[in-house]
Amino acid sequence: MVSSTNPYDDPRIAALYDLENRGGPDTRFYVDLAAELAAAKVGDIGCGTGLLTCELAGRGNAMVGVDPAGAMLDVARGRPEAHLVTWIQGDASRLGAEDADLVIMTGHAAQEVHGDEGWAATLAATRRALRPGGHLAFESRNPQARGWEDWTPERTRARLEHPELGAVDIWYRLLAVDGDLVRFEAHNRFASSGKDLTVVGELRFRAQADIERSLATAGFTVQRVFGDWERGPVNSRSPELIFLAVASEGSPPT
Ligand SMILES: C[S@@+](CC[C@H](N)C(=O)[O-])C[C@H]1O[C@@H](n2cnc3c(N)ncnc32)[C@H](O)[C@@H]1O
Repeated sequence: MVSSTNPYDDPRIAALYDLENRGGPDTRFYVDLAAELAAAKVGDIGCGTGLLTCELAGRGNAMVGVDPAGAMLDVARGRPEAHLVTWIQGDASRLGAEDADLVIMTGHAAQEVHGDEGWAATLAATRRALRPGGHLAFESRNPQARGWEDWTPERTRARLEHPELGAVDIWYRLLAVDGDLVRFEAHNRFASSGKDLTVVGELRFRAQADIERSLATAGFTVQRVFGDWERGPVNSRSPELIFLAVASEGSPPT
C-alpha cells in the first residue's frame, strides 16, 4: 500500500518510527541547548513520538508537544514520562501565547511544512508562543550537501528488530527532485510476512538565505546557524542547517 498524505498519520508507521530514531547527537544538542538557555517552558512543534519531548520533561522542563498526527501522539502518550507533558494534536498555532522560553522543531519536522504560506504561518505562530527574548531552534537539511542523492536502496538498506513486529527491512528510494521539493519512497518490509509497507514522503529543502528571510519576516533575529550537531560552521558539505533565533522585543508582527 502506498500513501502520500501525512505518512505519520498511519499507526503502523508511527509504531516503526522509534526503531529508526532512537536519539543521537541531535537529542544531545537540544538537551544541552535547553539547559544553556535555562528554558523553563518549552514548546515542541512536530513532537512526533515524543522521545525528545519526554527527555526534556524528565529533566524538569515544562513541555507542550504539538503534532497533527494522532498516531504519533498515541505512541508518545505511552512513554513513562508522558504524564509530565501537555500533548496537543495540531500544528504550531496550538502552542499558546507569549509564555514559552524556547520552541523547538526537531527531526527535520520543518521540512515537512512544504508550502510558503504554511511555513510563514508556522513561524508566526511560534513567535506568538514565545515571550520576547525567547528562542526558536530547529534544523533543516542543507540543500547544498544534496543528501537525497544517497537515498538509494543500495545505500540505505538496513534490517531492524522491532520488539513486537520482528525483523523489518527498510530502505529508501528517491522519486523526484522538483526545485527544492524532494519526493521519496520509504519501504518497510516485514520479514515474517514479506509484506512491504511503503509510504511516499515529501521534504522541502529550503536554502539558508530563504529561511533567514522568513525568520526576519516573522519577527526573529538569527543568532547562530550551525552546520552539524557538534556546532560546526555551515559550508557546502555540512549536512544540516541548525538555526538558533531569538524573538524580537515588542509585539509579534500581525
Ligand atoms: C520526522 S517526524 C519528527 C518527530 C520528532 N520531532 C523527532 O524529532 O523525532 C516529523 C513530524 O512532523 C509532523 N508534522 C508534519 N507536518 C507538520 C506541521 N505542519 N506542523 C507540525 N508538525 C508537522 C509529523 O506529523 C511528524 O510527527
